[in-house]
Amino acid sequence: MILIVFLISQSSALFTPMQVHLSWTEKSSEMCVMWQSRMSGEAKISYRPYLCKQNFDWKTINAQTSRIDFGTEMPRYSYIHTAIMTDLQADCYYEYTVGIGYFWTESFVFSGRTPGHDINTSYKMMIFGDLGTHYHGQKSLNLMKTMTETQEILGIMHMGDIGYNLEYDQGLIGDKFLDMIKPIATTHAYMTMPGNHEQANNFTAYKQRFLMPRNEASQNSSYFYSLNIGHVHYICLNTNPFLIIEQKSERKTMINWLKDDLFKANNNRNNVPWIIILHHHTFYCTLNPNMEMSRKDCEVQAEIIRNALEDIYYENKVDLVLAGHVHRYERQASIYKNQTILGDVDEQNKHVNAKAPIYIVSGSAGNRSNKNDPSSPYNYLWTRFVSDDFGFGMLTMINKTTLLWEQFSSESDKMIDYVYIIKQNNQTSS
Ligand SMILES: [Fe+2]
Repeated sequence: MILIVFLISQSSALFTPMQVHLSWTEKSSEMCVMWQSRMSGEAKISYRPYLCKQNFDWKTINAQTSRIDFGTEMPRYSYIHTAIMTDLQADCYYEYTVGIGYFWTESFVFSGRTPGHDINTSYKMMIFGDLGTHYHGQKSLNLMKTMTETQEILGIMHMGDIGYNLEYDQGLIGDKFLDMIKPIATTHAYMTMPGNHEQANNFTAYKQRFLMPRNEASQNSSYFYSLNIGHVHYICLNTNPFLIIEQKSERKTMINWLKDDLFKANNNRNNVPWIIILHHHTFYCTLNPNMEMSRKDCEVQAEIIRNALEDIYYENKVDLVLAGHVHRYERQASIYKNQTILGDVDEQNKHVNAKAPIYIVSGSAGNRSNKNDPSSPYNYLWTRFVSDDFGFGMLTMINKTTLLWEQFSSESDKMIDYVYIIKQNNQTSS
C-alpha cells in the first residue's frame, strides 16, 4: 500500500502541469497559455466565459507539445505545452485550467480584453525590466501581485533581462523564474522582450520559454512585435542585434519592419493616437564616469543604439520610449540628439504636446547584481527624476489625450514618481 501511494505521488510530480503563463498573440481575441511537465501526456486546456452574459459551457482543446532539452552541460528533457484560447469577448473574464492526462491545475481567471479589442476605457499596464529570481526580484513580485489583485491591470510587459539567466543551472533558473511569476502570469498576459541576459545560444532558452506575437518579418522568432491596445500602439523591439556586429541582417530586417510598422501606426493615429516603444537597452542614462559599467551602458552602447534608431523615432513622432538594462529608475525629458526639447507645457510632472520622445528607464525590478551606483550625478540637461529603489512602473492609459506613468518602489511600497503626458488638439510629438 505504501509503495502504491509512493508511486502515485511520484507520477503526480512528473505529470503535474507547472509554470503556467499567459501571453497575447498576434491576433485579436486570443490568449496563449504555455505550461511545462516532466513527462509527456495528453495535454489539454479547458476554459469558459466568466462573469458575463455568454454561455458558461466549458470548452476543451488539445495543446501542442514539444520535447525540450533544457540542459546546457548534459541533457535535461522536459515538455512544453502550448494552447491558444480563441474567440475571447472583451466584456467577459475567462476561467481556465490546464492538464496532462488526469492531472489538472486549479483554475485561474483572466480578462477577455485583448489587443485589437475596442478598448476605450482607462486601463493600466505594468512595465519593468531586469527582474531575476533573487531576493529583490521576489520582493518586487510580491508588490506586483498585490497590485494585480487590487487594481484593474490589463497586462504586464517585461523589457528584458528576465531570469539571470534562464539557461543557468541546466535551465533550473528558468524553471524557478516561471514558478516565481506564476501568481501574476497565470492571470495576466506576461509579455516579454529579450535583453542581453537572454542572448546566449542565439536566444534558445528565451524562445523555449516565451511565445510572443509573430509577424512575417520576425520569422516566428518572437523577437519584435507590435500591439494596438486601446489608444496606444505598443512596439516591442529586440535591441541586442545593434550590439552584436555579426547580426547585420537581423538589424536590417528589424529596422525595415519598424519603419513599416510606424508608417502604418501614423496612418492610424486618429484611432490610436499614442505610440510607445519598449526595448531592453536605453538611449539615454546618466553617466557615472567612475564606473566602467556606467560608461559601457550610458556612453558606448547607448550611443550605438541612438545612432541606429533615434532619427526613426523622432521622425515618426514616437511619444514615449521605455527601457531597462540600467539598474535604476531614471525619468527623462523630451529629448532629441542629447538635447531637451521643450513642449507646449514642460513641467516636472507634466508634458503637454511634447515635441520629441520622452524617455524613461525602469530597470530596477530586482536584478541579480548590486544596483548601479546611485551617486551618479544628475545630467541636468534632461534628467527629471532618479531613484535607485527596486521597483517597477505602471502606465495608465487614461483616455485618448492623457497618459499617466508612475514608478513604484518595492522597498518603501510607495509610488515614488509620476508624470502626466498630454496631447491636446490631436497633436503628436516632434
Ligand atoms: Fe541588461
